[in-house]
Amino acid sequence: MNKTKKLYEGKAKIVYETENKNFLVVEYKDDATAFNGEKKGKIKGKGVINNKVTNHLMQILEKENISTHFVEEISERETVVKNVKIIPLEVIIRNISAGSFSKRYGVKEGIVFDNPTIEFSYKDDNLGDPLINEYHALALNVASKDEIDKIKSIAFKINDILKSYFKKLDVDLVDFKLEFGKTLEGEIILADEISPDTCRFWDSKTHKKLDKDRFRQDLGDVEGAYFEMMNRIIKN
Ligand code: TMP
Repeated sequence: MNKTKKLYEGKAKIVYETENKNFLVVEYKDDATAFNGEKKGKIKGKGVINNKVTNHLMQILEKENISTHFVEEISERETVVKNVKIIPLEVIIRNISAGSFSKRYGVKEGIVFDNPTIEFSYKDDNLGDPLINEYHALALNVASKDEIDKIKSIAFKINDILKSYFKKLDVDLVDFKLEFGKTLEGEIILADEISPDTCRFWDSKTHKKLDKDRFRQDLGDVEGAYFEMMNRIIKN
């Protein structure tokens, strides 16, 4: 599949059109941002790692009957994906308190929830991806009630699958962000990426952070953490 035209360049990825309107090519960059682009940097090798990790996890999900946009990895940094219209919602699932949850509600990190939580942010960089509820999403015409119900149920199913998968790798899946898209036929499928950029991973034994929080919080050994996660994932 050949790239024809650059369609969109985001903070971490570039999306290209191909000669077939049903497919796009995604290219993963080493660029890293945090706090809505306020903090900028590069994580050497991140694009290659996030490409591999995302594709591996999407294939695990496909085996569990979750439809994803994944088609084929075509190079270290590039993957062919189905052409979907991204639903402008960041869907965040949390199993353990951390990040903006701890900040917003004034609780320490590391509280293990009895039940996972779900929240939505409205995907708009100019607005700083504000938190919204389902009623806001309906009012903004972001998705229909049925679509939101479907997204919630797929997101919780993905959480069940990934939580037990990561447990076997001695990793606690603290929280993660998903994005969904609509195919040209109107089916809702998982899109975007699942990587150390978009998940919080803590080593189950040492509790070492193995994700982008090392970059966000200047914890050091950012590349090492990404590499460690890739190695654990591609072996399983
Ligand atoms: P948060 O605690 O900052 O709200 O982040 C929750 C999860 O979502 C965390 O795993 C990181 C991920 N995330 C993204 O993928 N993109 C973003 O822009 C933000 C803010 C968080």
